[in-house]
Amino acid sequence: TRVLVLNGPNLGRLGVREPEVYGSATLADLERAASGWGAALDLEVEVRQTDDEAEIIGWIHEAVDARAHVVLNPAAFTHYSYALRDAAAQITTAGLLLVEVHLSNPAAREEFRHVSVVGPVATGTIAGFGFDSYRLGLEAIAVRLRG
Ligand code: DQA
Repeated sequence: TRVLVLNGPNLGRLGVREPEVYGSATLADLERAASGWGAALDLEVEVRQTDDEAEIIGWIHEAVDARAHVVLNPAAFTHYSYALRDAAAQITTAGLLLVEVHLSNPAAREEFRHVSVVGPVATGTIAGFGFDSYRLGLEAIAVRLRG
């Protein structure tokens, strides 16, 4: 079973960016960790990151067409990208799973982070557990697929 783990803007800066919020580990560390978790769960995991809204939307279309499930950290797009939301809606309406994840807990941060325009079209959301948000997201997919 294929799972795309898609990351939005500024997540390529993990390790350098606001380490007090996002930790000192890098995107490469996340890639390694996620592949390991995927292998243990019998999921074929591919991690990608982009700062480009069009690119992440294209990857979501690709997931729908390839019938891959998605773990998505939309980063700041979370809070305002209706284009990403409309793309994301196609995942769940296609009968695929979409787990929205966040490293931090946006509900505990600035007001503008309290709204997710992606959340309403996701299967579910996991936030606030650092890299473990991704691990839990992959586990949620594996558990749901096992029925
Ligand atoms: C984030 C939370 C967002 O509010 C922020 O814009 C990010 C990262 C997180 O993983 O905690 O870039 O999605």
